[in-house]
Amino acid sequence: MNVNGRPVSVPRTSAPLLQVLRNDLRLNGPKYGCGMGQCGACTVHVDGVATRSCVVPTSGVAGRLITTLEGLGSRDAWHPVQAAFEDAQAAQCGYCLNGMVMQAVALLLRESAPTPQLVKAELSGNLCRCGTHVEILKAVELAVIRMASLQTVSEE
Ligand code: FES
Ligand code: FES
Repeated sequence: MNVNGRPVSVPRTSAPLLQVLRNDLRLNGPKYGCGMGQCGACTVHVDGVATRSCVVPTSGVAGRLITTLEGLGSRDAWHPVQAAFEDAQAAQCGYCLNGMVMQAVALLLRESAPTPQLVKAELSGNLCRCGTHVEILKAVELAVIRMASLQTVSEE
């Protein structure tokens, strides 16, 4: 498979993709939460689609494009969604943030100007035990505004 733009070979295994990413490839952006596909902490992109890596067998994503949080941006060049989360201080413990960010970016790949209602619906399956949902939604809305203005500048 290709992980964050790099070809990667791993043994064909039914082990969850999350396990291979974290244990074998040392990519700790995706988090282990419920392990049952119900919290979103482990979300990665498979061919640009938000996917819960704790319930996907690694053999099922052979040859696919995988993006983890590490593939979105870096401290020197955050993805606009990551930057908005930081600027909006949308975190308490931070454990859910990988899933929130990856889910939000997947939405923006499909829909460049989502309404607040659409953002809320998209993130409704991502759980935050700290109750930071209001700040998280504000962060995504900030990212939407910033990305729209970047788009406008690039078109001028
Ligand atoms: Fe994968 Fe909860 S750890 S959905
Ligand atoms: Fe703690 Fe969301 S900030 S789980």
